[in-house]
Amino acid sequence: MVKDKILVIGASGQIGVELTLALRKIYGNANVIASDLREQNPLLEGTGPYVSLDVMNKEMLHVQVIRQNVTQIYLLAAILSATGEKNPNLAWNLNMQGLLNVLDIAREEKLHKVYWPSSIAVFGPTSPKINCPQQTIIEPITVYGISKYAGEFWCNYYHQRWGVDIRSLRYPGLISYKSAPGGGTTDYAIEIFYEALENKKYECFLKEDTYLPMMYMPDAIKATIELMEAPAQNISIHTSYNISGMSFSPKEIADSVQHHIPDFKISYKPDYRQNIANSWPQSIDDSIARKDWNWQQDYDLKAMTADMLANMK
Ligand code: NAD
Ligand code: SER
Repeated sequence: MVKDKILVIGASGQIGVELTLALRKIYGNANVIASDLREQNPLLEGTGPYVSLDVMNKEMLHVQVIRQNVTQIYLLAAILSATGEKNPNLAWNLNMQGLLNVLDIAREEKLHKVYWPSSIAVFGPTSPKINCPQQTIIEPITVYGISKYAGEFWCNYYHQRWGVDIRSLRYPGLISYKSAPGGGTTDYAIEIFYEALENKKYECFLKEDTYLPMMYMPDAIKATIELMEAPAQNISIHTSYNISGMSFSPKEIADSVQHHIPDFKISYKPDYRQNIANSWPQSIDDSIARKDWNWQQDYDLKAMTADMLANMK
């Protein structure tokens, strides 16, 4: 059996750090190369190889893939929803060209597998709000959502036309404490923990009744690895799989935090991110992921809150 050599692009980010550490446990430290535009995250130091890399520089990326005998790429470099609205051109360029560079190299070098995440941001105001299905009306209103939806169809195209084995999940908002989030609309669900522990109060940029699909990072890492390890014949979705963990509002997560920190107070001052959140579904139907590769989450709001606070303290 050929041993896989994995390149993680965007390894210093919110998902990248935890995914790289999890992949190193499975494949061996030396077989998982972390890479990013910015410096290595301190949590990765001493755990395996790191290269400084810009996914927009296709030539350099190609050289690294050949030189390091890379057989799988996890592409995590992207601009997220809230930051994307501040600089739409930058978001479109990075989110699209970065993906196309990786797909081209995967085709030319016959890589075994590619992982690229999409998002619930593909959905728009005309999509169903509750239990939003895999296939439905998809009319995103953010540049981030547009880039993710276009990206999904590029993945499908490279699979259909050239047989590239590329797999993808439409992550909900991800909650974690190891590496800071990168500018998403769902980041309030992380900020609330830091502010509750430090100041016992938090001013939320979304309204109290804004329900959004969310997931705790250990579940996101588990889903990613399970999807990538599933037999190819089980994969029926070649755009990106709906995936679900939990769904809650700012008021509900505040109540959950108050259970542990009784004098914690929340207030609400919605900003431009409210409009983005209003355009997304409140919950997601992920029955195809459950059927195809037996997806099942471990964490609900209560379990996630307890684990976040225990680890952050
Ligand atoms: P992040 O912003 O925390 O990390 C992205 C990393 O990419 C950063 O470390 C950044 O330095 C790096 N990067 C940026 N430009 C680069 C370039 N040109 N070359 C190489 N590296 C570059 O993002 P994240 O939250 O870890 O998200 C990773 C992926 O998951 C993205 O595609 C994102 O859209 C998707 N996603 C994330 C969430 C979430 O809640 N975090 C939800 C849905 C989808
Ligand atoms: N958490 C992400 C964001 O808010 C969803 O893709 O941008």
